[in-house]
Amino acid sequence: MRLERVAAQVPAGARLADIGSDHGYLPVALLRRGAISAAVAGEVAVTPFRAAQRSVRESGLEEHICVRLANGLEAIEPTDGITAVSVCGMGGETIRDLLERDKARLSGQERLILQPNGGAPALRQWLMDNGYRILHEEMLRENRFDYEIIVAERGEPLRYSAEQLYFGPLLMQSRSPAFLDKWQRELHQQQKTLAQLGRARQAVPEQKIADIGRQVRWISALLMAQP
Ligand SMILES: C[S@@+](CC[C@H](N)C(=O)[O-])C[C@H]1O[C@@H](n2cnc3c(N)ncnc32)[C@H](O)[C@@H]1O
Repeated sequence: MRLERVAAQVPAGARLADIGSDHGYLPVALLRRGAISAAVAGEVAVTPFRAAQRSVRESGLEEHICVRLANGLEAIEPTDGITAVSVCGMGGETIRDLLERDKARLSGQERLILQPNGGAPALRQWLMDNGYRILHEEMLRENRFDYEIIVAERGEPLRYSAEQLYFGPLLMQSRSPAFLDKWQRELHQQQKTLAQLGRARQAVPEQKIADIGRQVRWISALLMAQP
């Protein structure tokens, strides 16, 4: 379901670079359906790189999908004419770092389809700082994990508030059941942590308590707000 929701955000006919492709399931599925015209599957690790090569070979898609052993956006060559980049299933900070390191490899015309496992605020901050607008966001729960999908394109500069970076500007607007459930669970967790820190015998840095306290206030206000 997670990769299906990501797939739904890839524009029809795109030339996709799927970074950290693992088995290459996303580009293979999209090409088999005729939903994209070509793809690069990038992998930094040898075992998943070989798995992606095998998936592409077994699907008879070698002419359309190029599998490359490369770190992050180094998988993209200027001649690929990439129009969409997906980076899914890594921490938000890892995704941010690989975008930052090689942003010169992006033409600025690509749609970014990002599915961070945690660390989404850092990724939104990078998008804002680099002239991207968030076009779509969704949250879904699968196998007891909450996943966020963030779709962005370069556009008019936009400022997001600290709360919008934390929760997601569009997720805050749409307040889907999956989104509200996730934050309800998170509120319980943070309140529990705060109570444990209050009982801790060793000194806990004040900054840490203040950070958690601020998150608890933000989440409570979010959940109490009228739609
Ligand atoms: C958990 S898997 C996710 C696979 C797939 N994208 C998905 O969402 O199901 C993360 C993959 O990213 C790869 N990866 C991590 N850092 C990377 C980097 N800097 N460049 C390319 N691939 C990377 C890992 O080797 C691993 O195969």
